[in-house]
Amino acid sequence: MHDLVFLITGASTGIGAATARLASEHGYRLVLASRDGTRLQALADELGGPSRAVAISCDVTDWQQVKNLEERTAEVFGRLDAAFVNAGVVSGAPLLGDHDTPQEWRQMVLTNVYGAAITAHALWPLLQASQGHLILTGSVAGRVTVPGSLYSATKWAITGLGQSLRSAAAGSNARVTVVHPGLVDAGTIAPDRRTDPKLAPEDVARAVLFALAQPPTVDINEIVIRPTGQSPAR
Ligand SMILES: NC(=O)c1ccc[n+]([C@@H]2O[C@H](COP(=O)([O-])OP(=O)(O)OC[C@H]3O[C@@H](n4cnc5c(N)ncnc54)[C@H](OP(=O)(O)O)[C@@H]3O)[C@@H](O)[C@H]2O)c1
Repeated sequence: MHDLVFLITGASTGIGAATARLASEHGYRLVLASRDGTRLQALADELGGPSRAVAISCDVTDWQQVKNLEERTAEVFGRLDAAFVNAGVVSGAPLLGDHDTPQEWRQMVLTNVYGAAITAHALWPLLQASQGHLILTGSVAGRVTVPGSLYSATKWAITGLGQSLRSAAAGSNARVTVVHPGLVDAGTIAPDRRTDPKLAPEDVARAVLFALAQPPTVDINEIVIRPTGQSPAR
């Protein structure tokens, strides 16, 4: 058991919740963030209650709420050793075609790109103070060209954000890792991919904990993790 503090956004379900459970087993104290406070609180209770896990409702598209997340973390635990910037949404509507989708894309771009950037920005001083570790959830869709997919473009933005932050951190002891999962069975799968091979959220959680477990002198830059048999083209 150790007392390191690990904050996870998008912690209420899927990859975030699986990572919270595994990190708890590894002895981390946790800050769990997402919009659904009820689900988060149930997970915080499951993981040991206020001394081990706190739930903080936060919409990552709202700067005041993200700032509050940082301030409450400092207040409750007084430190932050690692953060998993994982909150994200998918809108599958294609970029081209005669449908009316721009409004649908707005929330995705705000969550996946702006939300990730302001979360990293808000938490960076706490991470710098602890010589900590920032981990971002990218996607295989942020490493290959997915035709006509704005979701893919938002994940390319995460690839770029990770590289940009790592460059900015050069010379310091802070580390930045981008984890790029292939298809994960987190509840909602696009109809055209239902029979494709899938990872479990726990598979991605193990990759996150692997990056975190390295000695301070080792910065795992990226982890690309596909289910066995997934096409390298997606
Ligand atoms: N599933 C896949 O195949 C796959 C593959 C590669 C990458 N990813 C990425 O993995 C990450 C986690 O997704 P998942 O697959 O685990 O799906 P998920 O179960 O739907 O999880 C998404 C999480 O993000 C949270 N969230 C959404 N909008 C938010 C907002 N505005 N503010 C704060 N939290 C927000 C959700 O919680 P609330 O609703 O409570 O806010 C939820 O906890 C995402 O970044 C996704 O793009 C997924």
